Amino acid sequence: MNNYHGKRVLVTGGLGFIGSNLAIRLVRNGAKVTIVDSRVPGCGANLFNIAPVASDVDVIEACVGDVEKFTAPLKEADVVFNLAGEISHSRSMEDPERDLYLNTVTQLRFLLACRVHCAGARILYASTRQVYGKPEYLPVDENHRVQPIDFNGVHKCAATQYHLLLARRGDLDCRVLRLSNVYGPRMALHLPQQGFLGVYICRALNREPIVVYGAGTQLRDPVHVDDVVGAFLSAGSAPDLKSRVFNIGGPHPITLREIAATAARLSARAGEQSPIHELPFPDHLLRMDIGSYFSDPARIERELGSIPQVEFEDGLRDTLSYYRKHGGHYLGLAKQPEPPAATRLAYQAIAR
Ligand SMILES: NC(=O)c1ccc[n+]([C@@H]2O[C@H](COP(=O)([O-])OP(=O)(O)OC[C@H]3O[C@@H](n4cnc5c(N)ncnc54)[C@H](O)[C@@H]3O)[C@@H](O)[C@H]2O)c1
Repeated sequence: MNNYHGKRVLVTGGLGFIGSNLAIRLVRNGAKVTIVDSRVPGCGANLFNIAPVASDVDVIEACVGDVEKFTAPLKEADVVFNLAGEISHSRSMEDPERDLYLNTVTQLRFLLACRVHCAGARILYASTRQVYGKPEYLPVDENHRVQPIDFNGVHKCAATQYHLLLARRGDLDCRVLRLSNVYGPRMALHLPQQGFLGVYICRALNREPIVVYGAGTQLRDPVHVDDVVGAFLSAGSAPDLKSRVFNIGGPHPITLREIAATAARLSARAGEQSPIHELPFPDHLLRMDIGSYFSDPARIERELGSIPQVEFEDGLRDTLSYYRKHGGHYLGLAKQPEPPAATRLAYQAIAR
């Protein structure tokens, strides 16, 4: 995995959960890393995320759509890991234009600039399993119909297509990873809109009730961030690939009830653990429920030899121990960091 030694790498969204884990691994593998992140309020940007490598990375606070702020490192980049984006499905339904701006408008500007400044460059894009909507069959392979059920899925789908279009035209060497539910150190636990895994972990750590909606029998394949980082590194270093789209999930499907029970059990202290409450879906959540989902790993295994290694129980134990040590930087972060003025103004301009 050390094909990155001495390579110049740009990580967009590198102050967030997955991007920071990736940036840390890249630095440890000898890469020269530049992070571009506009610290969007409501996303998972947190300077503490990159504390272990703070003196070894360049951080440029900029929106990916404002390429004039990072033209030099973009021109020099050997590989671009494009992880900037908003992940919240519920927030996309409350404010679709915000999601449109963050996941498509700025992505399109970014890619068009990449075409000019680093034509032919390899770009790895973080897409999502949400583009598939409610699975028609399981496990979900890359040929499954794309039929998102929320605006976030539609916008991530559009951004995926921008990447694939520019790859088909031969302008950029784009590769897309469709991620399942990712968990691990550096998740923004203070943002419940970012998904149920963070909510369960946060509640388990506080020994508060964990609420499971529906029957609790819905399947997911949570994937530890170390496995996601491994998949990005493999996909970013493979010279020629037969495919451009890969599903990335965890090693085994597991029910929501089991996920909640594991979180409660592993974070129990002095015999006290979170109770689990099973409740019917509130209407607004039911309409975004995809039922069961888990990824077919065949393509990524066959073409990249990338196999998820981290069992859920081990990964969760590692995650909980990170937050026991560093929870002050993640829990109770009620106030969001102020974004750079330029990002605020850009969004306000399109939101008018
Ligand atoms: N976490 C998951 O379970 C999951 C699942 C599927 C896909 N993904 C994708 O992976 C990527 C990273 O997700 P994450 O969980 O690390 O989220 P995160 O919220 O922790 O990190 C995203 C980062 O992107 C930054 N950002 C957003 N829009 C930006 C823009 N226009 N310009 C510059 N920076 C911008 C944010 O400030 C934040 O730091 C996202 O694109 C997301 O859609 C994540």
